[in-house]
Amino acid sequence: MTFHGGPDGGPEPRYDFSTNANALGPNPVLLAAIRRADLSRYPDPSYGALREVLAAHHHVPAESVVLGAGASELIHRLVRVRAGAVLALGPTFGEYAHAARAAGVGYREARSREAFLRGLGNAALAFLAQPNNPTGELFDADFVREAARRASRYGTWLVFDLAYAPLTGAAVSALEGAMRLFAPNKAHGLTGVRAGYLIAPSQNLAARLVGAAPSWVIGAAEVAFLRAQAGAEARNWLQGTLPVLLAWRRQLAGLLHERGYEVREGAANFVMARLGEDAAAFLRARGLRVRPLADKGLPDWARLSAQPLEALAALAAALEERG
Ligand SMILES: Cc1ncc(COP(=O)(O)O)c(C=O)c1O
Repeated sequence: MTFHGGPDGGPEPRYDFSTNANALGPNPVLLAAIRRADLSRYPDPSYGALREVLAAHHHVPAESVVLGAGASELIHRLVRVRAGAVLALGPTFGEYAHAARAAGVGYREARSREAFLRGLGNAALAFLAQPNNPTGELFDADFVREAARRASRYGTWLVFDLAYAPLTGAAVSALEGAMRLFAPNKAHGLTGVRAGYLIAPSQNLAARLVGAAPSWVIGAAEVAFLRAQAGAEARNWLQGTLPVLLAWRRQLAGLLHERGYEVREGAANFVMARLGEDAAAFLRARGLRVRPLADKGLPDWARLSAQPLEALAALAAALEERG
């Protein structure tokens, strides 16, 4: 198991800064589509119509689209199918390391862009979260191009994990010659729906990944979700939330900064702050949950997502009390 944000086994806190799901969600358009799904039958096992919809949305052939029970499941499947050393650029999403451990292959986390580029020569599979979690860092087009160029030279599978890309509101560089991984449940505030997809650069590679999944890897609710999120109505809702999330993130960063905490504000709907080692427990006891980053080698840092003003006020009051 990897530690994510969200439920921690305890009672649900009043204010949850620990998950990166869009705090204005769930997207009502998608919720309605999910509720209309027919759960009494198996979905089409080849997911033909859904793959066509996603393919048309991304201007790729339907045969390049691979569906998964969440991006996490696709990460594990990629690692299992590739069956070789995994590289990532840390600190980053813990599921890459978890998948490598589960598959019994090596895992290395480069600590700089240069080390990542050098490491591509010794890796079978590399992940680049764009933007990254927990830093929110968005990698520039030159770096992305160089990573893709080297990966292609060494025969390394390079995966751009675009889980938070729709939440940046910015142009996100990811090369079409590499793999692109999508996890729309975050941007639409529906992380309880376990559905993601991947676009492979070749149909042959996509077929290998599809062949490694169990039959009916996603259910009818997930089919309805993935189909509707590609539609204009769902995407318009998301676009409308971005200015609000950005304003909340700026206010969050501002209130932490004013209280003397070091803050890293990236491109997505969350920030990293150096709150101190005991902060998560202190805040949890006061009804606020943040995501501690000790498991990423950052024991005095936490990740906090953009939340409504009432939650920000509660955070400010708790930090005041902490002194
Ligand atoms: C960078 C990144 N990729 C993928 C995922 C997993 O997404 P899913 O909920 O679709 O498994 C997460 C979830 O936290 C993430 O942070």
